[in-house]
Amino acid sequence: MPQMTALGGEARSARGRAHPNVALVKYWGKRDARLNLPSVGSISVTLDGLWTEVRVRESEADGDTYWVNGQPVIGEAAAQLFQNLEVLRAELGLGVRFCVEATSNFPVASGLASSASTGAALTVAVAAFCTRELSARELSILARRGSGSAARSIFGGFVEWHSGTASDGSDSFAEQLASPEAWPLGIVVAITDRQPKAVGSRAGMRHAQTSPFFAAWVTTQDADLAAARQAIAQRDLEHLGTVAEHNCLKMHGVALTAQPSLLYWKPGTLAAMDTVRGLRRRGILAYFTIDAGPQVKVLCHLRDCPTVADALRDTPGVLEVMCSQPGPGARVLEVVA
Ligand code: DP6
Repeated sequence: MPQMTALGGEARSARGRAHPNVALVKYWGKRDARLNLPSVGSISVTLDGLWTEVRVRESEADGDTYWVNGQPVIGEAAAQLFQNLEVLRAELGLGVRFCVEATSNFPVASGLASSASTGAALTVAVAAFCTRELSARELSILARRGSGSAARSIFGGFVEWHSGTASDGSDSFAEQLASPEAWPLGIVVAITDRQPKAVGSRAGMRHAQTSPFFAAWVTTQDADLAAARQAIAQRDLEHLGTVAEHNCLKMHGVALTAQPSLLYWKPGTLAAMDTVRGLRRRGILAYFTIDAGPQVKVLCHLRDCPTVADALRDTPGVLEVMCSQPGPGARVLEVVA
């Protein structure tokens, strides 16, 4: 329902949609928390089946209001979302207060990268609201300020986010490596817990440097990035899956050995990892990756999705299975001027 202003006209608004992404070579650790600059580059694939829509509307209230799936946001999640909005307002020189409504078709804050899809959808919606023609690179830099992984969800398909070296973050942006159509891989998502996770990625990353393995994580990342880039260019699932699984276990190794230690896995997570390795022993190319949460994402050939999904459904502790493939980047759906 369009909202009406006090004068009876329809309020200015814009609506954007973006998809979460699965990190294949992961972002873990920051070199600058304020500008959200990562310690390492990362590579991801944007998913098609899951999405977040964000509608921003000029608000007549004193402050911003933020609704997620019909509920007002509160607590730590609210602080992060309001800060994202503040950054966009400052960077785009806007004086207005916003009413933001975000809707996702998947569980939020549970390790399915809702911060990436929400951040990217918010960025394109606010840019459209203020009729600013920004390049995808500029949008990616803006989205990064709100949430690092959101920089990647500006783009569809396979995406690399460059860590960059500039202290102002001007060279820390994402770009597309391959379009969704260029390599229609299967990505099967196994949900092992629907509860919001106890420690979000941002809080988890704050302690990444306390792991004795953090230095090794940083120095070995470039080799993983190069291997993943090459595997994507050659559409080589075996190599991409091998590096993704290795990189995932390294990231979780850093999280597990940080102080305080972080264990994002649930029993179903481990069981699903075992199922994936069992599939490989049967000759099916399937590889897992896990972000900062308990859900397991499995890369496979599109034709193997039904077999992989069935095996995961039969895995103890797996509550739900969703099949996806590479999807599009963030886009504007509607602007009401
Ligand atoms: C484990 O992008 O959510 O999913 O920049 O603090 O908002 P902030 O963190 P966020 O971290 C995602 C971490 C990860 C790995 C990845 O997506 O590369």
